[in-house]
Amino acid sequence: SAPLRLGIAGLGTVGTGVVKIVQKHVELLAARSGRPVTITAVSARDQMKNRDADLSGFDWEADPMVLACRDDVDVYVELIGGDEGIAKDSIEAALRAGKDVVTANKALVAIHGQELAVLAESLGRVIRFEAAVAGGIPIIKTMTESLAGNGITRVMGVMNGTCNYILTRMESAGLPYETVFEEARQLGYLEADPTLDVGGIDASHKLAILSSIAFGTKVDFDAVEIEGIERVSIDDINRAADMGYKIKLLGVTQMTGRGLEQRMSPCLVPADSPLGQLQGGTNMVVVEGDSVGQIVLRGAGAGEGPTASAVMSDIVEIARGVRLPVFGQPASGLRNAQPARTAVP
Ligand code: HSE
Repeated sequence: SAPLRLGIAGLGTVGTGVVKIVQKHVELLAARSGRPVTITAVSARDQMKNRDADLSGFDWEADPMVLACRDDVDVYVELIGGDEGIAKDSIEAALRAGKDVVTANKALVAIHGQELAVLAESLGRVIRFEAAVAGGIPIIKTMTESLAGNGITRVMGVMNGTCNYILTRMESAGLPYETVFEEARQLGYLEADPTLDVGGIDASHKLAILSSIAFGTKVDFDAVEIEGIERVSIDDINRAADMGYKIKLLGVTQMTGRGLEQRMSPCLVPADSPLGQLQGGTNMVVVEGDSVGQIVLRGAGAGEGPTASAVMSDIVEIARGVRLPVFGQPASGLRNAQPARTAVP
């Protein structure tokens, strides 16, 4: 049957990873999709950069807006990043041009995801963003497909690997926050704006997306009560350890009698619990369903292979003809949530 033809915008870590998987797993992807998956064209700021991937078979398109609208592209894969500008404009252009869209853009989805999903629905298209939350962990499909028979009661987890690296390293090496922050910067772990990581904003983007999927409410990033890790001291960590606890930047979302509670803050977790044992740059998401009980997913929340793996899962679903709404229900039907603000000192 006819191939599913991709247009990939953005050839950074994730985009390069997607190209490599498409090239490496030609037969596997065709078998799982029921049709070949091919790349028509790519777009990136710097065509000359050495990417350790063979790009010779694809057209280069200087402008993502043009790529998004090409007749020989079925799915526009947006891996540019940024919560405004060309990423958003090109996604809208692709949907209007009749393309389905896959994106890994967590900030964009947390702020404009519902609006984009409503646009997609009105045009009979789909937008999917498994890679936007917790990298390689298939948390969105776990909730909307695998746990389809459950009311979700709570979702929590560690969704920023950089913060988890910093906290874990402070404890194991006995180093102060500032020293480990500098290490993380040198290792290239931090976002271009490090406040997104250590301020808890990146993790809160992901939490807001999961809240919406879990509870059928509009994505409400502004309602997340956020405290980052900047004020966690080595003394705090040592005192917690003395009592058998670790400090983790933990996101929790649950529907309470007072409304939707969404919190991202440094929390004490028992040292011997799965969350307490989470090491380095890893992510963990805990989902509670009213039939299944508790499910724990752990894996790499960032990086080329893991994030590209999540992008591919969306591509293959589209190739198979799965047209499920990305929020687990039509985005136009998401309700306003009453935020249950708790008093955070
Ligand atoms: N800065 C993010 C993290 C990257 O550290 O988890 C993945 O979203």
